[in-house]
Amino acid sequence: PEKGLKDYYKNYFPIGVAVNPRMVQPGPDAELIKTHFNSMTPENAMKMGPIHPEENRYNWKDADAIADFAQQNNIKLRGHTLCWHNQTPRWFFTDSTGKTVSREVLLARLKRHISDVVGRYKGKIYAWDVVNEAVPDAGPDLYRKSKFYEIIGEDYIEKAFEFAHEADPAAQLFYNDYNTENPSKRDRIYQLVKKLKDKGVPINGVGLQAHWSIYEPSAQELEASILKFASLGLKLQFTEVDMSVYPKEHERRDHRDTDKSEFTPEMDEKQAAQYKMVFDLFRKHRDKITGVTFWNLSDRSSWLDNFPVPGRKDYPLLFDQNGRPKKAFDRVVQF
Ligand code: G3I
Repeated sequence: PEKGLKDYYKNYFPIGVAVNPRMVQPGPDAELIKTHFNSMTPENAMKMGPIHPEENRYNWKDADAIADFAQQNNIKLRGHTLCWHNQTPRWFFTDSTGKTVSREVLLARLKRHISDVVGRYKGKIYAWDVVNEAVPDAGPDLYRKSKFYEIIGEDYIEKAFEFAHEADPAAQLFYNDYNTENPSKRDRIYQLVKKLKDKGVPINGVGLQAHWSIYEPSAQELEASILKFASLGLKLQFTEVDMSVYPKEHERRDHRDTDKSEFTPEMDEKQAAQYKMVFDLFRKHRDKITGVTFWNLSDRSSWLDNFPVPGRKDYPLLFDQNGRPKKAFDRVVQF
């Protein structure tokens, strides 16, 4: 059989991919997944909104389809995500009259949600992103002013980890966030996680999302993050790797008019070089890294299409729109 990414990396770490339920139906996407990946993360299917749309109703169908596919094909499964300010259904924070619920009610709902979801996939999911993106991008604060924070207080985070640990004591529990190469955000995430660890909260790892671009991060910034988070003595995973061919938000405004949505040979080359740089570092620090997951399968469809610029396509992955390996793929497996 064709040698897949996972085979090149079998002595390093599992290689994962974010999937939707359509991809695990028989067809080319399912084949691509089976060839190259030995870990999967549901892109949306296990988030609060999709899986728990009403207080007394769960929608297990999509999540089950993904979990079944993983099990049948001997692919590890990461769970994503139990507590996030995004994609949380409105009912979660309000009572039947539309009034914001109390700390006690919200904690009880969070506990029930986490026990039900983690309980259902106990033994099938080896690692959970328990709390996602709780740290704000800028400013001095450690805590994003989310509804969970406003209503419960900062201990909503440790409670979420405790509920998850109760529901599946064997699952590895991660705190997951993005922009982890930004020095200020890196320091604040570090402080948050260190606080949890020092307090004895059942946390096993830090998930670094890695929504990068062909312009950043630099090798120095990335390595600084790896070393800083590894010094916590927790597992480290890169959980949502992709590499936009456009400059990031803060530079982007100047580029809108010139963005043509084409994948140029210059982008191809720059992306291959950037992917090589990050995978060289991943391998160098293999003793600290226990997983690397791509956020989406191929350039045919990525969450970055039309985001943040409507009408603009992106090409952030190792496989092209026909599922064929790109230059970046070759560079990542040549070592
Ligand atoms: O499910 C509805 C569907 O019923 C409707 O027809 C359609 C119309 O737009 O929308 C569908 O929901 C969309 C969903 O993706 C499924 O496609 C939501 O509008 C859209 O907001 C949602 O986007 C997801 C995003 O998280 C939400 O913030 C992306 O697919 C997903 O890739 C992205 O993933 C996040 C990680 O979970 C956390 N880290 C950042 C990462 C990228 O934003």
